[in-house]
Amino acid sequence: MKSFDVAAVVSGGASGLGEATTRELVARGAAVTILDLQEDRGRALAEELGGHTTFVRTDVTDDASTRAAIEEATGKDRPLRIAVNCAGIGWAQRTVGRDNSPHDLDPFVKLVMVNLVGTFNVLRLAAAAMAETEPLEDGERGVVVNTASIAAYDGQIGQIAYAASKGGIVGLTLPAARDLSNVGVRVCTIAPGLVDTPLLGSLPAEARQALAAGIPFPKRLGRPADFAQLALDVIEHGYLNGEVIRMDGALRMAPR
Ligand SMILES: NC(=O)c1ccc[n+]([C@@H]2O[C@H](COP(=O)([O-])OP(=O)(O)OC[C@H]3O[C@@H](n4cnc5c(N)ncnc54)[C@H](O)[C@@H]3O)[C@@H](O)[C@H]2O)c1
Repeated sequence: MKSFDVAAVVSGGASGLGEATTRELVARGAAVTILDLQEDRGRALAEELGGHTTFVRTDVTDDASTRAAIEEATGKDRPLRIAVNCAGIGWAQRTVGRDNSPHDLDPFVKLVMVNLVGTFNVLRLAAAAMAETEPLEDGERGVVVNTASIAAYDGQIGQIAYAASKGGIVGLTLPAARDLSNVGVRVCTIAPGLVDTPLLGSLPAEARQALAAGIPFPKRLGRPADFAQLALDVIEHGYLNGEVIRMDGALRMAPR
């Protein structure tokens, strides 16, 4: 898709990778709706970016909440053609702990709900709205970009819930692209490595340097802007579809 004169939704758009993508999309002229739970950050960002940027407090695991947000996005003065899924959460716990207690079930279910079901929820509702738009070059109506993680492939000790939820996103990418071929909507997933978002920013500088030193090249943490650039590359590149792209400086994570 060459023109960004369209409406877009970004889940998790109030922070980190989603915020960087929102900024880049707005800079290119898109009318972005930010879907996030964080009301203060989301509203402040929408106000700062101004124009056609709006914030809708959204829980991506909730049908009605996400429908309302997609409705807001489709009510803009241009067609909804872009959805970027960045909403996500983490959790660290071993399957069986040092004291032989089993992994709690609730956090496992919650991670799958937010990371996997939430991604699918935005994807299905956004794609249904895109299906109603006029086709562009090659019959393309829209594009969905999801966010997995390299943990989907190299999940570390304690990452079983997170890795499983992200593995689900990797698994749905091809069937989603195949399902949506009849409406001209492409689907790709980005699997980032270690990116310097508020999540990692809370670690001490030494710990962040140690993480960066383990990355083959470039020897630095990824930047949110690296992710945003790739998301926009995927949106622009009309022949990329059904693929998961690692963005990790060749990092392959060890068991711990
Ligand atoms: N930062 C990294 O190194 C890294 C690496 C690999 C993958 N990821 C993935 O990238 C995505 C973005 O991560 P980030 O680092 O920018 O984190 P972040 O915490 O900065 O942003 C995530 C956003 O998602 C929102 N969110 C959480 N649950 C939600 C829900 N139910 N409904 C709507 N919004 C919700 C949060 O409020 C937050 O604003 C996540 O899916 C994460 O798993 C991040």
